Amino acid sequence: MALISWIKPNSFVIDVGTDHAYLPIALIDNKITDRILAIDNNIKPLARARSNILDAGYTGFIELKINDGLNGLNFSGDEIIVIAGMGGVLISKILDEAKSRFKPNQTFILQPNWTWYELRKWLADNGFKIEQEQIINEQNKFYSQLCVKYTGEEYAISDTEAFCGINIKINTDYDSFSNSEINKPLNTTSTAVTTYLAYLNRLKQLAERKSQGIELYQLIKQEIEDMISKQISELKE
Ligand SMILES: C[S@@+](CC[C@H](N)C(=O)[O-])C[C@H]1O[C@@H](n2cnc3c(N)ncnc32)[C@H](O)[C@@H]1O
Repeated sequence: MALISWIKPNSFVIDVGTDHAYLPIALIDNKITDRILAIDNNIKPLARARSNILDAGYTGFIELKINDGLNGLNFSGDEIIVIAGMGGVLISKILDEAKSRFKPNQTFILQPNWTWYELRKWLADNGFKIEQEQIINEQNKFYSQLCVKYTGEEYAISDTEAFCGINIKINTDYDSFSNSEINKPLNTTSTAVTTYLAYLNRLKQLAERKSQGIELYQLIKQEIEDMISKQISELKE
């Protein structure tokens, strides 16, 4: 639900790694769009998707395709490409294969469930601008979701930014999203800041663990502590 809050009405959406097809079904349920191509490279998830789409009554609206990532597809530039729920390295591999066919300003919505550091570094090195990120807390797990545009212009990103995210929208919190509340976050700003602080704390713990073996993470840990202090003093103001 949080992912689709970024999708403008009537967009053409390509969902790569659709699995159960929850995202395409939610797009139609919420009357956002019914122009959807759902891709998976495995037969079992596609069968699951087909059955869920049938149960929802949306057969004929969602095109299902067995495909390896975006291989063989061409783009007009207007499509919104969603790649969620897999590792950041795999997401970057899928993007890399299709990069020469993307159009300027093509939009991507990405959710790396692991190796997010590697994905953000790759995006910066390959001209994909991270326009905004949002942090989702679901069942005590944190996910960062990235809204990205292809510009072709490389840029620098620090290790801490690659680890924690950049341009994070912290005035919203989709923790308790419900169908009727699409595009309208339920929680207050202070709850959202609490989520952001909890997210930073979780990353700090992760950096702490990694810093025992890798010097880079000592610096990242220190910088996260500074971000937490800054956020807390802003809260007090
Ligand atoms: C964990 S599911 C994520 C489902 C959904 N996108 C989500 O965020 O909840 C990952 C899906 O990606 C699919 N997948 C992995 N690599 C892929 C690739 N190269 N091309 C297409 N689908 C892929 C897997 O088969 C699996 O169904």
